[in-house]
Amino acid sequence: MTNIPSDPTRRRALSSLAASSLAAIGTVGLSSKASADVSSPTSTNAPGKPTPALAPDSLRKDEPNASHPSPADQPGATARPIVKTGSDVFYRPTVHFSPTTGFMNDPNGLVFDGERYHLYYQYDPFAPYAGHVHWGHASSTDMLHWKDQPIAIPETEAGEAFTGCAVMDRANASGLFEDSKGGMVALYTRASPDRQAQYLATSHDNGQSFTEYAHNPVLDIGSNSFRDPQVIFHKPTNQWVMVVAKSRLHQSAFYASIDLIHWVHLSDFGPSGLFGVDYECPNLIEVPIESGGSRWVLFVSVNPGGPTGGSITQYFVGQFDGTRFIPDDTVIGLTDFAKDAYALQVYGNMPKAEAVSIAWLGNWQYCQELPTQSWRGCMTLPRTMTLRRDFAGWLRLAQTPRGLETLRDTAIAFEVKRIAAGASAQVALPPGKALELLLSVTVDERPRDLPLGDKGRTGRFVITFGNDQGETLTIGFDAFSGQLWLDRDELKGFAQPFFTGQFSTVLNPDDRHFEIRVVLDACTLEIFANGGLSVGTALIFPVSPLDFLRLEANGAGATVEQVELFQLRKVMERETAV
Ligand code: FRU
Repeated sequence: MTNIPSDPTRRRALSSLAASSLAAIGTVGLSSKASADVSSPTSTNAPGKPTPALAPDSLRKDEPNASHPSPADQPGATARPIVKTGSDVFYRPTVHFSPTTGFMNDPNGLVFDGERYHLYYQYDPFAPYAGHVHWGHASSTDMLHWKDQPIAIPETEAGEAFTGCAVMDRANASGLFEDSKGGMVALYTRASPDRQAQYLATSHDNGQSFTEYAHNPVLDIGSNSFRDPQVIFHKPTNQWVMVVAKSRLHQSAFYASIDLIHWVHLSDFGPSGLFGVDYECPNLIEVPIESGGSRWVLFVSVNPGGPTGGSITQYFVGQFDGTRFIPDDTVIGLTDFAKDAYALQVYGNMPKAEAVSIAWLGNWQYCQELPTQSWRGCMTLPRTMTLRRDFAGWLRLAQTPRGLETLRDTAIAFEVKRIAAGASAQVALPPGKALELLLSVTVDERPRDLPLGDKGRTGRFVITFGNDQGETLTIGFDAFSGQLWLDRDELKGFAQPFFTGQFSTVLNPDDRHFEIRVVLDACTLEIFANGGLSVGTALIFPVSPLDFLRLEANGAGATVEQVELFQLRKVMERETAV
């Protein structure tokens, strides 16, 4: 049974474009299938302590997530016909995943099935606005080259298909598979304005299509802000563990199960972390420490309430004993120093327990107003995650783009070894191409002509991507304070009150050296500084192609130990600028 909402205005909105993606929806095979020998879980899935539903949410009448500005707030938005514009092509990334048409937010169901990596995603196929959420689907053998797949889980009368996970039930613990090889199980939230509960669906064809379990929901605490389950198999206790958000209580709740169907409440973590409205998308994973050993990391997305505005992903480092998450300290980490990396999810079933994540490259503050018309939303590059001690001894998350070297095409020659104070070096860029820049720089200790007693505060190294229209995208390093900034304010393609322009982070204090890896791809920018300890993810909207790169030393000279610039090969069959 395919259950596509019959809202004609939303369908009409994309009708000029959507022939291909709507055709794909037609092949969805999601149905409810009874399973004779599985009893209804209703008697055993009650949590240890009942959580009261929160009053403010129960007053909602439109979209089931009140912290999202919804199309209901923009009268007529979904009824207007959507026309594919030049911006849709110009801003379309070439190495980051984006949907053909419609609106995409969180990554979902990230799992390796033994052959393919799956990327499901929150998807409104009908309009470039959040709503009518389905699970879109793409698959890959390297997490970079994605193949579009039919919609995996549609919206149904029971609600929208909100965020969730996929696990490989290889031992057929659920009893829902015919043979002992088992199969894939998705656990996700069905969301309606007055209820959010956890649902289960099985896939008998390696994640291509799903059948909804007959006795859903598998976990329902009577709340309307209870969502985004992530499930792992916890080997030491030989059980499945779910972490799920009690969003308005600002808690991550842990549940255990031996069959993925019956869930027992274990513990709640929090409230802990940033002030904010909704806590969402908790994800738990064991991450290797670079110097040996490992720690558990609990990621929790907060929206709105991020220190840079709107959506932010925070994390806690600690231990998980099979029952509760115990943080090592009271420190809150942020995965990003800019504001466009949200709803981070980790891959399950990875060989050698590699820790890999993908986040939505967006922010709820402006994601529905971006200057593209027929599609909105893209994902970050897949990132390998490790833990590393920083200068102060904190164990911090380090993120690096996974496998990006394999996309390197022609290197752009750019020979720079020394830049004198006040001087710069410049190179032309091929318009429209995704680029990777690797840079390692040491700013001179002290400018020779400064009076005694001056600490050399003026040493700044500036990386500018620009064009002759006067648009600039700047990344800079202040050697005196060891801080890095990012400035997207001088790009003129998009303005909105929350689309703020400047961000900064501290690298190492008292260190005039930095190294950085920058990926620039149409409307996306990812910065990995000092081995990924500081990461900045930002949407960028220049009016014209950024066609030069300039390196500039201000106030003090600089030695450039490494400068490498690569064009990156396009990964998707999409209409892009190149
Ligand atoms: C996070 C989120 C989730 C929810 C989904 C709805 O961005 O709000 O909590 O499941 O988006 O699309």
